Amino acid sequence: MRTDYTQIFQDSAAVEKYEHIVYAPDSYWSAINRRQREYLRGLARRAFPYRRPVQHDFACGTGRAIRILHGLVRGAHGYDTSAAMLTKAQEVGAYAVMHQIDETGPVPTPVPTDAPALVTVFRLLLNVDEAVRDRAIAFAAQVLPHYDAGLLVVENHGNAHSLRHLRHRRHGAKPWFAELSHDDVATILDRHGFTIVEQRGFALFTQGWYGRRWLRPIAQFVDDLATRVGLAGRYAVNVLYIARRTRPTLGALASGDLTPTASAAPPTPPAPSAPPAASAASAPEPSEETEGPRRDPDAESW
Ligand SMILES: C[S@@+](CC[C@H](N)C(=O)[O-])C[C@H]1O[C@@H](n2cnc3c(N)ncnc32)[C@H](O)[C@@H]1O
Repeated sequence: MRTDYTQIFQDSAAVEKYEHIVYAPDSYWSAINRRQREYLRGLARRAFPYRRPVQHDFACGTGRAIRILHGLVRGAHGYDTSAAMLTKAQEVGAYAVMHQIDETGPVPTPVPTDAPALVTVFRLLLNVDEAVRDRAIAFAAQVLPHYDAGLLVVENHGNAHSLRHLRHRRHGAKPWFAELSHDDVATILDRHGFTIVEQRGFALFTQGWYGRRWLRPIAQFVDDLATRVGLAGRYAVNVLYIARRTRPTLGALASGDLTPTASAAPPTPPAPSAPPAASAASAPEPSEETEGPRRDPDAESW
C-alpha cells in the first residue's frame, strides 16, 4: 500500500492523468463508469421515489460520482483533500458545493442537510490505511444517523475474490497492488453501524483483457451482460456495496458484544486480505515499481 496516496492527488499532473487517461473515453474504467452510471441512476430512482436525496461524496476527486447522479439529487456536496482535484471537478462540470478537508484529524463534519441523503465513497478504501477508511465511514455515519436517513454507496475497485487476484503473486508486494475482500468491506461498515443491503459488480475481467484488441470485445460483452443481469456482485473486480445504518457506531465494541470491557481498545483492523507473502512489509519494493512505468495494467489501480 502506498503511504503517499493522499499527496499523489495534490499534483496537477496526477489529476490530469486520472481524468484524461484513467478515465479516457475508451478506457477500462470508463466502461465500468458507464455501467455504474446506469445502475446508480436506477438505484436513486427506486430508493428515493418521493424525495430526491442530497448527495455527500467523500473523496470526491474530480466529481465522478456527482456527475453520475446529476439531476437525481436535490443538491450535492463534494469533500476531498486535494484542491487540484476539486478544481478539476468544477472544470469538468461536477455540479456541487466543494469542500477541501484535512487528510487526518477529527472526522470532517458534513454540511447539515435534510434527509434523505446519499453518501458516496468511491475508489478510496482500497488504497488507504484503516484510519482513513474509518474516517470516511465515520463521516458517512454522521450524515446517515439511522436506517431511514438514506443510503451509503461504497466502491471496492480491487475485489480480492476476482480474476485480478491471480495477479497477487506477481504484484502483491508492489505499492499499487492492493486488494479488499467483501468481508473487509463489511467489517469496516459494520464498525460504524452499517449493514450491506445490496452488492453489485461491474467487471468480471481485469484491465489487461481490455488492452488486447481481440479479447476486448468478448470481455466487454460478457461484462455488460453480467452487470445488466446482476450476476457479477461476488466475483467482479469492481464492486459497489449499498448499505444502510442499522445501529449505532460500535466504537470500542466488537460486533456481537453488548458491553465494553474495561480495557476496550480501538477496533483492531482486520488482517490484510492478501497472504503474508504478498504483504508490502515482507518484500522489498523494486525501485522501478515506485516511479517507473507500469507495463501490466493489472498491477495498477489508482
Ligand atoms: C482515486 S481518487 C477517487 C476520486 C473519485 N471518488 C472517483 O471515484 O473518481 C481518490 C481521491 O481520494 C482523495 N483522498 C486521498 N486521501 C484522502 C483522505 N485522507 N481523505 C479524503 N480524501 C482523500 C484524493 O485526493 C482523490 O481525489
